[in-house]
Amino acid sequence: MKKLNIGMVGYGFMGRTHSNAFAQVNHFFDVPYQPILKTVCARNPARAQAFAEKWGYASVETDWRRLVDSPEIDLIDIASPNDTHAQIAIAAARAGKMVMCEKPLGRNGAEAEAMTKAIEAAGVPNMVWYNYRRVPAVTLARQLIDEGRLGKIYHYRAKFLQDWTIATDLPQGGEGLWRLDVNVAGSGVTGDLLAHCIDTAMWLNGGIDEVSAMTETFVKQRKHNLTGKVEPVGIDDASAFLARFHNGSLATFEATRYARGHKALYTLEINGEHASIAWDLHDLHRLQYFDHRDEGRLRGWRSIHVTDSDQPYMKHWWVPGLQIGYEHTFIHQAADFLTALGETQSASPTFRDALQTDYVTDAVLDSAANKKWVKVRSAERAPARGGADAVANG
Ligand SMILES: NC(=O)c1ccc[n+]([C@@H]2O[C@H](COP(=O)([O-])OP(=O)(O)OC[C@H]3O[C@@H](n4cnc5c(N)ncnc54)[C@H](O)[C@@H]3O)[C@@H](O)[C@H]2O)c1
Repeated sequence: MKKLNIGMVGYGFMGRTHSNAFAQVNHFFDVPYQPILKTVCARNPARAQAFAEKWGYASVETDWRRLVDSPEIDLIDIASPNDTHAQIAIAAARAGKMVMCEKPLGRNGAEAEAMTKAIEAAGVPNMVWYNYRRVPAVTLARQLIDEGRLGKIYHYRAKFLQDWTIATDLPQGGEGLWRLDVNVAGSGVTGDLLAHCIDTAMWLNGGIDEVSAMTETFVKQRKHNLTGKVEPVGIDDASAFLARFHNGSLATFEATRYARGHKALYTLEINGEHASIAWDLHDLHRLQYFDHRDEGRLRGWRSIHVTDSDQPYMKHWWVPGLQIGYEHTFIHQAADFLTALGETQSASPTFRDALQTDYVTDAVLDSAANKKWVKVRSAERAPARGGADAVANG
């Protein structure tokens, strides 16, 4: 097994999920590479050192530029806030490193485009951590769609609801609250939550042609943690849009951080000519399935407990009936990346796939600002649907 030295940027929420994925992947998947937790990079040396000790990183770096230039590092993993993605990814690509990057790829389409160009010019393996594709129940949904079980698809419905920014005295900016600062995040729930919904949607149902959106910023001013001043809020607190998919189906998408009672309610539903599918992140190991071709007397929604060895990814885990959770989606993604690497390919979603998602979020924000339907730009290549980009271990 070849060793792959990881340089991790950021030790926050995603720094932990990625470190866990790299630490666990060889225990459960037969992949041709062994990720080595080589160096973690963050600006606070004491906290980076504490993280390194806890997770087993061999060394610590405080400037990502030195990490990118280090001859010891094979792969740069970007798990830092959105405003850092472009400069780190472009520098890493130019230094010939493989790059894995958190979502959204850029703060907007232009940034994501520059990143994609740099990655493709360097010809380095790359992937973006849209992890929900690798929830076994969601991967099973994709298999059922690909097998034609739903028939023609008429509707796609997705929402992602949270409630953590309702308090009007919650500040914006800085640690933990950079998502409320538009300069760092790029946008609000559109780039943060809807980007996930859009990535999954295009993976399951193909490209989105046009959108009509509305957004709202409910709290217009918040104290900024870094300046100490009350400043305008530039992010969208809530975002909802209608969409037309290339395959003719109609869609509704909604995300907000003002839905009291909801913490991370990501749900999706797809209605086809013959069958429907529904999934809910709060119950992530179940796929709801209704098939009109079932015998009439027995017809109804089935709640499929996706834990059996012939269901995606599950043969790598425990025994049938025992479910897995959120952190495993990142392990699956690492496994697929390393498997594809063994075949000198990039696993999906690649930078180019994620660029397409940024084009959709750009169109959503443009539509909301200008109160009109907006056609979505094309990232030229259609979003990943099989071939080199197929899920390897699912
Ligand atoms: N795939 C998912 O489901 C998912 C979930 C959450 C976050 N994200 C994405 O992951 C990224 C990080 O989000 P998070 O929730 O982990 O944030 P976080 O605030 O928990 O952690 C961010 C980390 O980045 C570090 N950092 C900030 N600026 C840096 C710099 N210049 N150099 C080095 N390190 C720096 C911070 O010290 C911190 O360790 C964001 O792009 C976010 O959109 C994705």
